Amino acid sequence: MQLTAESIRKSLSRVQDPDLKKDLVTLGMIQGIHIEDKKVSFKVVLTTPACPLKEVIKNNCIEALQEDHGKGWDWDITMTSQVTTVRDAAPILPEVKNIIAIASGKGGVGKSTTAVNLAVALAELGAKVGLVDADISGPSIPTMFNVEGEQPTVKKVKDKNIIVPITQYGVKLMSIGFLTPSDSAVVWRGPMASSALRQFISDVEWGELDYLLIDLPPGTSDIHLTMVQTVPVTGAVIVTTPQKVALADANKGLSMFRQPQINVPVLGVVENMAYFTPAELPENKYYIFGKEGGKKLAEKYAVPFLGEIPIVQSIRESGDTGYPAVLKNGQTKDAYMELAESVARQVAIRNASIEKTSIVEVKA
Ligand SMILES: Nc1ncnc2c1ncn2[C@@H]1O[C@H](COP(=O)(O)OP(=O)(O)OP(=O)(O)O)[C@@H](O)[C@H]1O
Ligand SMILES: [Mg+2]
Repeated sequence: MQLTAESIRKSLSRVQDPDLKKDLVTLGMIQGIHIEDKKVSFKVVLTTPACPLKEVIKNNCIEALQEDHGKGWDWDITMTSQVTTVRDAAPILPEVKNIIAIASGKGGVGKSTTAVNLAVALAELGAKVGLVDADISGPSIPTMFNVEGEQPTVKKVKDKNIIVPITQYGVKLMSIGFLTPSDSAVVWRGPMASSALRQFISDVEWGELDYLLIDLPPGTSDIHLTMVQTVPVTGAVIVTTPQKVALADANKGLSMFRQPQINVPVLGVVENMAYFTPAELPENKYYIFGKEGGKKLAEKYAVPFLGEIPIVQSIRESGDTGYPAVLKNGQTKDAYMELAESVARQVAIRNASIEKTSIVEVKA
């Protein structure tokens, strides 16, 4: 076969993205084909940062090309990524590609800890990330990022006051904790809390983001409704611990997103505090809160199981000192990086397979 840009595309149309189950050409992932002497260069633009399947896809490309064109060519393939979106560019947050809610049902299961480490992990993978602390009466993000007491600046854009988010560890942050002294935050309830959240979404200079994470308060409150009425949410990540009482609430949390009038896709379930491993017995796992409860919840609802995070003293300490555990090398970092990869992957799959989410209309 004569080698042309067209023949290259034809060969590559036999290579599938294993997650998206379509071929690379149909997905528009092959770009910038350039042929010079015996060298063929092109880019494969994947849909998640640091895609774990990168090497497999690259090797499959070379195999398909060699089948058609033989071995006499130098294949110069650059693997890059561009996070996908199915959001409308207007009217709200036009430059934010994906909005991800972190929810649980039960309080204290580790939503904020998961949201913080997930946000930092996605940023470490090279994505542009923001995090909204939607827990208006009990904000924990400023402490967990060691930015307590910082005050965001405000600037005027077209006669409107816009808040500039605080950036820490590569993540843009907004929390009520930046605007009020921590001991007075508790008075922010009901409609005031809802209007604060609306402001955090629409009056903050988020700029271009691949992922904007929203760390929700526990339960299924007004804040959840405000969120889905303010922005189209790409998907929800449900955090649970494995014990029965947490799972019962996680059930409710998950079902809320599934209600037809809300209709936010569930990206999957994270099992937090899945087991305990003592440092001196690294092979032993103790299932303090029961085994695989999160996994079973995911199975029950036929949603992806995104990963499990062990109970580790340093995760709690990192939250308290404001230096996220994912930034320290070791087993915990690996668990959070894997979680970030699975969340990014589920976002890409969701964007390739389901319609965009609509904002929930308020019915009088
Ligand atoms: N995997 C873990 N290992 C050890 N400690 C953890 C882990 N996950 C969370 N924690 C600790 O558990 C406590 C509760 O976590 P966190 O604040 O993240 O929960 P939450 O679900 O956001 O709570 P709330 O419902 O109040 O918002 C914190 O002290 C946190 O450091
Ligand atoms: Mg929290």
